[in-house]
Amino acid sequence: MSRTLPAGIRPSKIVILDFGSQYTQVIARRVRECRVYSEILPHTATASEIKRSGAAGIILSGGPASVYGAKAPRVDRGVYRLGLPVLGICYGMQLLARDLGGAVEASAAREYGPGRLTVTRKNRLFAGLPKHLEVWNSHGDKVTRLPSGFAVIGTTENSKAAAIADAKRHFYGLQFHPEVSHTPRGSEVIENFVLGICGCRADWTPGSFIERTCAEIRGQVGDDRVVLGLSGGVDSSVAAALLHKAIGDQLTCIFVDNGVLRAGEREWVREIFGQHFHIDLRIIDASARFFRLLKGVTDPERKRKIIGNEFVRVFEQAAKSIARRRKSRPYRFLAQGTLYPDVIESVPIGGNPASLIKSHHNVGGLPKRMKFQLVEPLRQLFKDEVREVGLQLGLPREIVQRHPFPGPGLAVRILGEVTRARVRVLQEADAIVHDEMVSSGWYDRVWQSFAVLLPVRSVGVMGDERTFENTVALRVVESRDGMTADWVRLPGELLARISGRIINEVRGVNRVCYDISSKPPATIEWE
Ligand code: XMP
Repeated sequence: MSRTLPAGIRPSKIVILDFGSQYTQVIARRVRECRVYSEILPHTATASEIKRSGAAGIILSGGPASVYGAKAPRVDRGVYRLGLPVLGICYGMQLLARDLGGAVEASAAREYGPGRLTVTRKNRLFAGLPKHLEVWNSHGDKVTRLPSGFAVIGTTENSKAAAIADAKRHFYGLQFHPEVSHTPRGSEVIENFVLGICGCRADWTPGSFIERTCAEIRGQVGDDRVVLGLSGGVDSSVAAALLHKAIGDQLTCIFVDNGVLRAGEREWVREIFGQHFHIDLRIIDASARFFRLLKGVTDPERKRKIIGNEFVRVFEQAAKSIARRRKSRPYRFLAQGTLYPDVIESVPIGGNPASLIKSHHNVGGLPKRMKFQLVEPLRQLFKDEVREVGLQLGLPREIVQRHPFPGPGLAVRILGEVTRARVRVLQEADAIVHDEMVSSGWYDRVWQSFAVLLPVRSVGVMGDERTFENTVALRVVESRDGMTADWVRLPGELLARISGRIINEVRGVNRVCYDISSKPPATIEWE
């Protein structure tokens, strides 16, 4: 997108070439924490592409391969002639050393886990840091002969060349991983590279992002109209606020009530986006259609398919009829809240978990046949950056800090048939969970917390009467990205309060269980 901008207002940029490390995205995050824009490219990117992208420096990521392996991923050697600073991390360092005439060998002792680096020579990469650093290692090979022009700047117990530099050409190599939290001062090393050595400006701020992106959106859509499916989740909400700032009434948001939303969701979205932001918001109550299709359906995958397909149909019809009523041309642009982790081109090098993230559920898969052009103003951002931008745009914290909510909604949290009556039971239980998590201060400390309605009825006693009612499961998990998760050890008193309130206040529930399974092997949602 930056191609549409004059060079003068482009942000400073670091390019990270990905060799398949599970930490590549973490490197990108660390660079951005220095307020410098970073972009991950596959290691196959050519030197001229990198030059054209306007990068001020290059980081070669780690990776699972061995540089002397037959299928070892390589880099276009032209990158070393661009005159740009290069930082090689782990595999990246070994590649840099080998490409420039050094030697790399398998070491007898694989270095894995914590280590202690001794800085042996004054240099810019470790400027302002102490002589000894706690570092995190994860490598089998090591550099045994330096390329000419290089000197050792740091050693560890097992590595004579744990950090190397050619200060003249601004080439640096680190055997350890500065990007991970187990290297406590690693962020400062990255900052020294990005700001000190590459000379980047720290201009990647939410404010500058908003300004630049609004200009880009206006450039892309001109005076055409844009439609956006607003779900009330973080991504579509921030996208809506950003587009509204950029193009005002040229934006129409469509909110589809599929009947399986959280309690009060529709009113909330109307209040925030319709009344507060004055966005042209169309609320479509399609719940009857969804319930009709879901009647008798108990298979989780079928539920998901039905809801996904029907959503597309409802959305499509709504967009057409709004345009017709306005007597205007059909919408040319469809906006989506796609984020950066969804667009990074993954490298198929031995088991990179980052590439798995891409295969995840995406409700954004909207009508291909509608021939929309896409507007994806958040496609450069990580989730926490989206949140910062949302706050800056004036969205309330309750929206910006919201837990993820699945596209098929409460339908995948109601095991068995989805009926209006069962949705109501779950909505009430879920509202209590939310309420208690927020008021106890736990909501912001966990990844997700919600209730699940089980197809299990059990015997209870209320007053003098025997009951035979529903069971609700409580699911509260912590996670970094939803790919793995662990159940949260909530205090007993909080669990007791949630359980007590659900059983007393929600008619039709007489038992609450706490889900103590981690992912894997369980998943976060129950269906
Ligand atoms: P699972 O259940 O696979 O969920 O462990 C991982 C994360 O993804 C969310 N999720 C979805 N998000 N559409 C979405 O937008 C979906 O269909 C969907 N299904 C699951 C889930 O809430 C969790 O955060």
